[in-house]
This record gives sequence, C-alpha cells and structure tokens, in this order.
Amino acid sequence: MTSRKMTRKTTVGSIDPSVLDFTAGSDLQLDLALVQADCIGSAAHVTMLSRMPIRPKVITGAECKAVIRELGSIMQRAAAGQFSISLDDQDVHLAVERILTAKLGDLGKKIHTGRSRNDQVAVDLRLFAREELIGAVSETLALAAVLVGFAKRHETVPMVGRTHMQPAMPSSVGLWASAHAESLLDDVALLMAVYDLNDQCPLGSAASYGVPLPIDRVLTARLLGFSRPVHNVLYANNARGKIETLILQAMTQVMLSLSRLAQDLMLFTMPEFGYFTLPAEYGTGSSIMPQKNNPDVVELVRARVARVMACELAVMDIARSLPSGYNRDLQETKGPFMEGVATTRSCLRSMAQMTERMEVNPGALLKSFSPGVFATDRALELVGRGMPFRDAYNYIKANLDELETMDAVESVLKKTHWGAPNGLDFGWYGERIKAGREWHNEEWSAHCKAVTKLMGIKYPVE
Ligand code: ARG
Repeated sequence: MTSRKMTRKTTVGSIDPSVLDFTAGSDLQLDLALVQADCIGSAAHVTMLSRMPIRPKVITGAECKAVIRELGSIMQRAAAGQFSISLDDQDVHLAVERILTAKLGDLGKKIHTGRSRNDQVAVDLRLFAREELIGAVSETLALAAVLVGFAKRHETVPMVGRTHMQPAMPSSVGLWASAHAESLLDDVALLMAVYDLNDQCPLGSAASYGVPLPIDRVLTARLLGFSRPVHNVLYANNARGKIETLILQAMTQVMLSLSRLAQDLMLFTMPEFGYFTLPAEYGTGSSIMPQKNNPDVVELVRARVARVMACELAVMDIARSLPSGYNRDLQETKGPFMEGVATTRSCLRSMAQMTERMEVNPGALLKSFSPGVFATDRALELVGRGMPFRDAYNYIKANLDELETMDAVESVLKKTHWGAPNGLDFGWYGERIKAGREWHNEEWSAHCKAVTKLMGIKYPVE
C-alpha cells in the first residue's frame, strides 16, 4: 500500500517521485531546445515505418500523414513557446509521444516501434548540432570579415610588432587584424570538418543493438538530410559524447582565437597604449569613478573561454568513463554541450559588433616606434651592402645608442613578400570567406529543404 503511494505512474513504469525528479535533472528545461529536432526525427522514423516491407503494416501511409501533421502542429506550438515538458514525461521524447497518443489514440502508441529514446536523443542532438554548427560557421566568418575589412582600411598604418610583449619590428595594423581573421578562418575549416563527422544519422540503433525488423536506416538518414547513417548501431550510441566533445573542441579553438583578440584589445586600448578605441557603448562605467569606461565585453569573452573549455572537459570526462552501450551518464553531457555552443556563438556576435566600430589612433601607434624597433632593418641594410648577417647584427648591437628612428611607413612598405605587412593577399582572404559563405548557404538551404519536405510545413517554423 505505502509503496504504491510513493510511486508516480509514467509512460515507462511507476517511479518514486524523488527519483523521477533526480533522474530527469535539467532535461525538462534543456529538452525544450530539442522539440523541433525530436518531431523531425519522429517524422522520418514514422515515414520509414509506413514503408517497411511487412504485412500487416505497422503504420499505413494515411496514418503516417496524420502523425506528421500532428508533429508539425507540435513544432508550431513549440515555436510559439507553448510546449512544456512535465516531470511525468521526463523528457521531450515521452512528452511528444504523450501528445500524439492523446490526439491519435493507438496510432500515437505505435510510433515508438523499433526505436528507443537513446536513438531519439542521439538523432535530436545531431540535428541540433547541425544547425548550431551552420550558425557558428556564419558567425565566425562574419567576425573574420569584419577583421579583414579593418585590416584593409588600415593596411599599412604602422604598428609595432611585438615578441615577448616587447617592441620587436615595424609592422602594421593590417597584419595584426588579418592575423586574427586568419586564425578564425582556420577555425571555420575545423567547424566544417566536425560538421562532416556530425553528418551521420544514428537513427535505427534502437537501444544500441538494432531491432528484428526490416528498418531502412539509409532512408531515414536521407529523409533527415544526413549524408549517411552511422554504420555500426552500437557505435551510433557510443558516439554520443564523442561527437559533442569534437564539436566543443572546435568551439574551444574559436574561443582561443577570441581570447587572443580580447587580450590584445585589452592591452592596446589601455590609455598607456591607446592604439585603438573601442566604441564607448561597448564599455561599462564604474559606480564610483565617473571617468571610467571599462572593456567588460572583452574581459567577459576572456573568462568565457575558460567556461567553454570547462564544458568541453565536462563532456569529455563523462564520456571517458563509460562502457559500451547507452549509459544514463550521457544525459549529463547535454547541458555543458548546449552551454558551450551557445556561449561561443554569443561571444562571436559581440566581438563582431564591437570590432566593427573600433577606431585606430595612428599617432598613438607611432609613439611606440623607438629606434630599437628598426635595429633589424638597419642590420639588413648592412647585409644589402655585402656584410654577413652575423657581423651586421653584432655591429648594430654594439652601436644601439646610435640607432636612429626610420620612417615607420616606409619601413612597413618595404616588407612586400607574401603574407608580410605590405604583402597581404586580401584576395585570398576574400576567397576563403566567400567559399565559407557558399558552404553556409548550401548547407542551411539543404537542411531547411529536407525538413520542409519531410514535415510538409515551412521550416524553420515561425
Ligand atoms: N534524457 C535521456 C538522455 O538525454 C534520454 C535517453 C533516456 N534513455 C534511457 N534509457 N533512460 O540521455
């Protein structure tokens, strides 16, 4: 008697309410980000079931249409913020099944034929990751384009190049800004590589071991716009956690690029440097010091690099300790995965808006050109007159007091080889950005087209 009182009836058995609360964890909130994906995955599964070559049919063509119509209306309700997951549901998967069963009766109860929630969450996360990666590529390219534009506008404005943070050689604002852009362009390549690995459909794995039904995994993969299914059904589940780690590693690389940019900006906007001025509205004031305008945005970007890295580590460390097959631990990777991706994307957007309106102060930049900055140029002048480099180096080193400042612009203009301050190939940057944008447009439109076709409603749902 008492034990009955202590349990709560759910779709998957009677469970102690405190256990339900503990095991559902953050899923009731986090799974809201997966509603669209879950409905899309279910539509592909149901379509496949309706075409399965067995008699009697599990689901008829007409029934399939009815289910997809209902899934479409769930997607619309979710887009309007009218979808919630209750504790009795536990997660988005059972919430969707509950709604379908309430609307369609026995038909709703059939949709889970030959699949498991492990299947569902794995495919949901891959669809979620697809959209996030496409978005992250676009945002990384946008920041890279802002930096390339900035570099072009200030191509040969002299800026001291530093090593060990000490003045080293004449350089330019163009070289500095486009170095940050190029790092981001490499990150784009990494995001695309990870996108490729994500582009495999895990659906049809069921609990990890397949099902004794003639399911068509190539069909579901195609309906969902994946290039191919994950081949091995056990690996389809084991890859959960691995794929998120890979994605977060790519995000971490983006964040490391942002971290360096943030660090440079913090330094070079200090009044003692004053090389650049950040837009005033991107700073925040002090409650006591009226004159303050602090670069909080870049500081927070710097701190959030650590948070994204922590998300990556959390996911990797959870996955590290798991044996084969589904383990509930995997649920705990969802939060850090979503947080790491969202944080990276918001940092990219903020940095692009900020650098777009950043100003350059050529006078302040020139002030850092002490005579020593030209020491190597002077040594190379001597080399030009036939002196062996080491002798020239020693001569200049012995006579540093006599070094005179050179014309910084002239010195920058002399560095004309490929990739040097006066040899930057902006056409090459342009090509890389253009190719990235084309990739973005193709992938996004293919994704929307596949979902629109499958669901029979316009996607993304408004
Ligand atoms: N919320 C679960 C997760 O994210 C869904 C899969 C549950 N599977 C299970 N066998 N309990 O991993």
